[in-house]
Formats: sequence, C-alpha cells, structure tokens
Amino acid sequence: MSEDADLIRLTYVSAHELPTDASGFNMAFADIEQVASKANAGAGITGFLVCARRWFAQVIEGPSAAIDALYAKLGADPRHHSLRLVERAVITRRHFPDWHLALGYAAPSTSMVFAVLDFSIDEIPGPDADDRLLDLATDLAAIKRVVT
Ligand SMILES: Cc1cc2nc3c(=O)[nH]c(=O)nc-3n(C[C@H](O)[C@H](O)[C@H](O)COP(=O)(O)O)c2cc1C
Repeated sequence: MSEDADLIRLTYVSAHELPTDASGFNMAFADIEQVASKANAGAGITGFLVCARRWFAQVIEGPSAAIDALYAKLGADPRHHSLRLVERAVITRRHFPDWHLALGYAAPSTSMVFAVLDFSIDEIPGPDADDRLLDLATDLAAIKRVVT
C-alpha cells in the first residue's frame, strides 16, 4: 500500500497548566517540538502544534497506525490533560508536509490570529470551534513560514 492510500489527519485539543511568560512561551513547548519532530520524522508524521496560554491544539497527519499509536501516547502525557478528539479523517494531501512538528504560540505578534478566528488563548475551544482549528494552525504556520 502506498503511504498516500493510508494517510489520516487527527486533530485534538487539550488543557495544560504550564505557566507562560509575557511572550506566551514556556520552555516545555520547545522541548516537545524538539523531541517530537525527531520522533515524527521516523514515523512519517507531520503536523502543527498550537500552544495557547491554557490549551494545546495539535494536528498530526501520517499513516493511520502511526497516528493512532501517537494519540494513545499523547493521552498519557502528564504535561496536558482532558484531550478531546476533534477529527480523525482520511486525507489525500498533507497540510504541513514540510514540518514533522512545528509549533505556534500565543505571542503578542500572533494574538491577532487567535482573535480574528474567535479563539480565547485561555479557554479551551469547544466543539463550536472545531471547524476553525485547522484554519488557526494554517494561519500560524503561514506566519512561521514568513518569519523563520
Ligand atoms: C502537547 C504535546 C504534543 C506532543 N506531540 C508529540 C508528537 O507530535 N510526536 C511525539 O512523538 N511526541 C509528542 N509528544 C510527546 C509524547 O506525549 C510522548 O512524550 C513521546 O511520544 C515520548 O514517548 P515515549 O518515550 O514513551 O516513546 C507531545 C506531548 C505533548 C504534551
């Protein structure tokens, strides 16, 4: 089976209590990005992690077995809790083909993206926001592409 025939995208939101500094950052975010992007590369996974002040939203895409195995691990990670599955869907094209895991956080320079899409950086998004999460990740990724 070619990889494309078995490609899925999984999106979830979770709550965290990691204290963020004035720029919306916590070193744990960078640790996750560094470790995860290496592991994801080995598993054929790409994706984007939104780090808000009190919540995460993550989009991961790749072979279904690898994605399901990662989601099981994520559910056991004490750095966040209350995971809510937003979407698990078969896809034909990756949204983030160039990143095994990139992250965007709620810095003063990106807070407008959260606001325009009607996200609070403190309140974990409810189901009414599900269809805007991919837009949020895509817009933060676009800023990241320009800035880095
Ligand atoms: C918000 C968040 C996102 C994460 N994203 C990934 C990821 O994309 N890939 C990954 O391998 N680990 C990710 N991790 C880390 C995993 O939860 C877990 O610690 C890691 O897979 C190591 O597991 P292992 O050492 O038991 O294999 C993430 C953790 C958190 C809190």
